[in-house]
Amino acid sequence: MIQKRKLFQTLVTEIGLGCWQLGGDWGEVSDAEALEILRASHEAGVRFLDTAAGYGAGRSERLIGQFLKEQSEAVFVATKIGRKEASEAHLRTGVENSLQRLGVETLDLIQLHCWTMEHLRQHVVWETLRDLQKEGKIRQFGASVESVEEARFCMAQEGMVSLQIIFNLFRQHPRDEFFAEAQAKGVALIVRVPLASGLLSGKFCAETRFGAGDHRNYNKDGAAFHVGETFGGLTFEKGLELVEQLKSLLPGEPPLAALALRWILDHDAVTTVIPGASSIRQAVANAEASRLPALPVELHQKLAEFYRNQVAPHVRGQY
Ligand SMILES: NC(=O)c1ccc[n+]([C@@H]2O[C@H](COP(=O)([O-])OP(=O)(O)OC[C@H]3O[C@@H](n4cnc5c(N)ncnc54)[C@H](OP(=O)(O)O)[C@@H]3O)[C@@H](O)[C@H]2O)c1
Repeated sequence: MIQKRKLFQTLVTEIGLGCWQLGGDWGEVSDAEALEILRASHEAGVRFLDTAAGYGAGRSERLIGQFLKEQSEAVFVATKIGRKEASEAHLRTGVENSLQRLGVETLDLIQLHCWTMEHLRQHVVWETLRDLQKEGKIRQFGASVESVEEARFCMAQEGMVSLQIIFNLFRQHPRDEFFAEAQAKGVALIVRVPLASGLLSGKFCAETRFGAGDHRNYNKDGAAFHVGETFGGLTFEKGLELVEQLKSLLPGEPPLAALALRWILDHDAVTTVIPGASSIRQAVANAEASRLPALPVELHQKLAEFYRNQVAPHVRGQY
C-alpha cells in the first residue's frame, strides 16, 4: 500500500511514475517494455502517472491509454500541454489530442508544460482552462514550472490546483521559497526529477556514458532545454563528487535512491513524487519509499546545511 495525499479534492498516491522515458526520448524503449514498467508500477501500488503530449510526440500518452484499458481501478493521469502558443485554439486542440491518445472522456489534470512568463501572462490561457473545466474536458489544471517567479505567478491564478517542480536533495531551494505559500493556498506540489536524473541513486561514476539520444548526454549543459531538468542543474562531474559527500551523511541502508525519495516525502507540502524508471526493478523499488520511516530531524538539518554550503553554489540555470 502506498500512502495517499490530497490533490485538490482527490486522493492520489504519494509515489507516482514519471513517464517521460516511456515515450522513447531517452533511447530505445519498446512498447512491450514500457507497458511492463507501467504494469509493475501499478502492481506495486502506484496510481499516479505523469506524462505529456510532447513525450515521444504523443507515444507516452498513447501507451498509457493502452495500459488504462487493462485497468479496472482508477489511475490518476496528469498530462501536459506544450508551449507552442498562448491561444485558445492551441489549448483546445491540445486537450482534444490528449483525450484521444489517452482514450478518456475527461483529463484528470492538464499542466502547462514549462510555459514562458510571457505566455503565462496571457489571460486567455487561464480563461480557456477554466472554460475547458466547465465543459467537462478537464477535471483540474496546473502548471509545470522552472522558476520561483513562474511558481508564484501560477499559484495566484484562479482555479490552479497543482505546481510541478524540480525538488531533490541537490535542488532544495523551492522549500524555502514557496512551500509554505503552496500549502496555505492548497496548491498541490508534484515533484519531478527527484533523483537528479539518476545521480541520486549513487550508481554513476566518471566512466558512465549516456547514449546520443539521452538528455543526460545532449542536455548536460542545457543545450536543448532548461539545464535544471538534467542532473538538477549540476555538471555531471560535480554531481558525482557531491554524491560521495552525501553518502557519508546518510546510513548505508536503505539504498540512496530510496532515501532520496523518502527525504522528499518528509515534506508535508509535497503531494506526490514522480521518479522515472527505466526498468521494472526501479519502478518497484521506488514505490517502496512510501513504506520507509521519516528521516530524523537532525539528519534533515544536516542535509539542508549540506545543500546550502556544498551544493547550491554549483546549481546552474535561473530558478
Ligand atoms: N518539464 C517537465 O515538466 C518535466 C521535466 C523533466 C521530468 N518531468 C517528469 O518527471 C519525471 C521524472 O524525472 P526524470 O525521469 O527526468 O528524473 P529522475 O526521476 O530524477 O531520474 C530517473 C532516472 O533515475 C534512475 N533511477 C530511477 N529509479 C532508480 C532506482 N530505484 N535505482 C537506481 N536508479 C534509478 C534511472 O536512470 P537509468 O535510466 O540510467 O537507470 C531513471 O531513468 C519524468 O518522467 C517526467 O514525468 C517533467
